[in-house]
Amino acid sequence: MLDLDYVRAAFPALDASWAHLDNAGGTAPAAAVCERIAAALGRGMVARGGPHATSAEAGALYAEGHAAIAEWLAADPDEVLLGGSTTATLDLLARSLRPRWRVGDEVIVTDADHEANIGPWRRLEATGIVVREWRLRPETATLELEDLRPLLGERTRLVAFTHCANVVGALHDVAAITQVIHDAGALACVDGVAYAPHRPIDVRAWDVDFYAVSLYKVFGPHLGALFGKRDLLLGGAPPAHPFIAPGDLPYRYEPGGASPELVAGLPGIVDYFDALDHHTFAIRGDADEAPRGRLFAAIAEHEASLAARLLEALAGTRARVIGPPTADPEARVALVAFAIPRVPSATIAAALAEAGIAARSGHFYAPRAVARLGLDPTCGGLVRLSLAHYNTVEEIDRAVAALAPFIDPAPTSTAS
Ligand SMILES: Cc1ncc(COP(=O)(O)O)c(C=O)c1O
Repeated sequence: MLDLDYVRAAFPALDASWAHLDNAGGTAPAAAVCERIAAALGRGMVARGGPHATSAEAGALYAEGHAAIAEWLAADPDEVLLGGSTTATLDLLARSLRPRWRVGDEVIVTDADHEANIGPWRRLEATGIVVREWRLRPETATLELEDLRPLLGERTRLVAFTHCANVVGALHDVAAITQVIHDAGALACVDGVAYAPHRPIDVRAWDVDFYAVSLYKVFGPHLGALFGKRDLLLGGAPPAHPFIAPGDLPYRYEPGGASPELVAGLPGIVDYFDALDHHTFAIRGDADEAPRGRLFAAIAEHEASLAARLLEALAGTRARVIGPPTADPEARVALVAFAIPRVPSATIAAALAEAGIAARSGHFYAPRAVARLGLDPTCGGLVRLSLAHYNTVEEIDRAVAALAPFIDPAPTSTAS
């Protein structure tokens, strides 16, 4: 059971006068992150690699940032690339892998993903790579393995798919999908952005080849992190400065990439999780002793209770909820997207903003998924309420009250 007072006090940006339900668009940064960034800037940031103390400190902070994210992903620090965003890191990855492949080789993308994990692979088509599409099932809004199998062939080099689409919330079994992809001799590149704030990550256990997360959606600063297996990173050809040694990981993928003062803030994410774990389970001691699983189980339970409240309010109304109708944490994360026929989604998001609720509408940079769902065109996409573990029952009730005029089963004047 999470202590919400403790949790909320750890996020200076949260404010009781408005409800932040746009967490898939960006979470509040933890105080521990903000403090580290301010301290790093206050000490003066200079490029790493110099012989003096300030440069050595910058190098140490950079290394600590990598180590923290590596620990969280269950990877090694040299396998974690940091960049400005997931859009940037996946674009870099696609360009870096292309020299490994020949004209006529194939990649598979989905239509469920955010464009960040589609566009970079689709752009390889111009270089002779054949692109195939693994389509989501509109009735469930999920990707099914039976639809992937016929697309895999001996020239498939990589499959790019989502752990959890940012307009659906349904969870995909990454380990099982990755196994099928590996059996076909291809690589798995997973977008974990919408999943990462809600569940523990273990890239080793899942055996994924690449896994992307956006740190500003996990209580950190505006950066993207990309895990890549070491041998694959070594075999890639990033367009880095030619004088950087091929084995210099992860730096070879990073020149000019991530803002050092923001990287300095990254251990604050892990510090926050560890502090919350200790507080929740009343355990003191080495952070390494605390399995992250139990903390995220508590987080999932709390988030699911909030999602259930929201889904119950939408059930039986005119709202078409995307993805599983249940809040079961095995089936979905606490991200609820919906559309109401003949009501522009932007109107609903504006009404929520008017009521002090931060939410969002549109296609969320997943226009292919939204098109595939076959929504009423007058909706202009979906309304999305995306929750984090610091959200409260009161915030959900406020959102439900603001939605009431739209979801009332009787036709309203706004429906014209
Ligand atoms: C599922 C998903 N993938 C990728 C991205 C892109 O992340 P970034 O903003 O770090 O480029 C987003 C951003 O909203 C997202 O929701």
